[in-house]
Amino acid sequence: MSDEDARRLSARTLAAQALGRIDDETRALVPPIHLSSTFIRDPDNLYRAGDVYGRPDNATVREAEAVIGALEGAAETLVLGSGMSAAVALFLGLGPGAHVVAPRAMYWALRAWLANEAPALGLHVDFADVEDLSQLERAIKPGATKLVWLETPSNPLWGIGDIEGAARVAHAAGAALAVDSTCATPVFTRPIALGTDVVMHSATKYLNGHSDVIAGALCFARDDTLSVRARDIRKAHGLILHPFEAFLLTRGLRTLDLRVRAAAANAMELALRLSNHAGVSAVLYPGLPHHPGHETARRQMQGGFGGMLSIRVRDGAEAAVAAAARVALWKRATSLGGVESLIEHRASIEGPDSPCPPDLLRLSAGIEDVEDLWRDLDRALGG
Ligand SMILES: Cc1ncc(COP(=O)(O)O)c(C=O)c1O
Repeated sequence: MSDEDARRLSARTLAAQALGRIDDETRALVPPIHLSSTFIRDPDNLYRAGDVYGRPDNATVREAEAVIGALEGAAETLVLGSGMSAAVALFLGLGPGAHVVAPRAMYWALRAWLANEAPALGLHVDFADVEDLSQLERAIKPGATKLVWLETPSNPLWGIGDIEGAARVAHAAGAALAVDSTCATPVFTRPIALGTDVVMHSATKYLNGHSDVIAGALCFARDDTLSVRARDIRKAHGLILHPFEAFLLTRGLRTLDLRVRAAAANAMELALRLSNHAGVSAVLYPGLPHHPGHETARRQMQGGFGGMLSIRVRDGAEAAVAAAARVALWKRATSLGGVESLIEHRASIEGPDSPCPPDLLRLSAGIEDVEDLWRDLDRALGG
């Protein structure tokens, strides 16, 4: 296939064939897993093949990076040992003294790291309602702010950040924009095309999609200081993904498009039905027309609004915990983005600092039959 033909291929095609790579030596359609931790040095003391040691160099890891990079339209992509290590590598790369603006509502463990760990490492962090661009503008310190962090849709209230707007505001002040696009996935949103400098994924979620790998990814619009620093930090701190996990990640990516569209269709249908459920006081899902971020979501999410939604249970926190205890088909577990549907009383895990209301149940719609999912949920909510 010519390079021009390859450039015309859709993301779905690229992922289904893992970029069409085959193993040169065996002609295997599915490339082997490279497990070697070390590589032979040439007799003249050089490493002509390029790979030296397994911590920085692994062909199976590079395959996962190539597929994710193609999906995001990135110039440079790194996979790391978890979503947290991906985010931390990026923040550490900014260096001591850097100022960072982060959302008030975001993935709780990363918010906790920014609040509790990052200051000891020399980072200055301010939290703001970054979904409101005027508040973001006020939180930025021109010259000092190195990075603005956005998560959209944001966990677990599913607010929508305006990626193009945030990129404009950040860049005007000389800061870079990073977007946690874990829940949007490249199927629905391509943040780099909207002006983002770095896209971060907990690849544990939709990218892998089968609840059997912990992994993270950073996708860079340009191969410049940010990507070089993150790569160096991954190597220096050993924040790596094992090749077997990288292989599973590439395998999961082959069906990303199908899985994510099926989950989003289920989430949309459930959000509509739950909006009329007597046991539910509010449904938080950006696909619903009354959602405050709906118009922005329509603009920047192409083809769907994701598989994540939350509900507030009318009778309060205890009723929410009791409803989660009554499900049979939905799995009562943390995490999201797998093929199986998960339900979670979110405040129980996020603790007292969380902006998450105590009556909230977070739902990760899987790819099961929506009628089966609905019957189970409806019964658990006392329908
Ligand atoms: C939106 C989001 N970002 C980041 C993370 C952290 O990823 P990991 O658990 O792979 O470290 C998570 C995990 O739940 C998440 O939901």
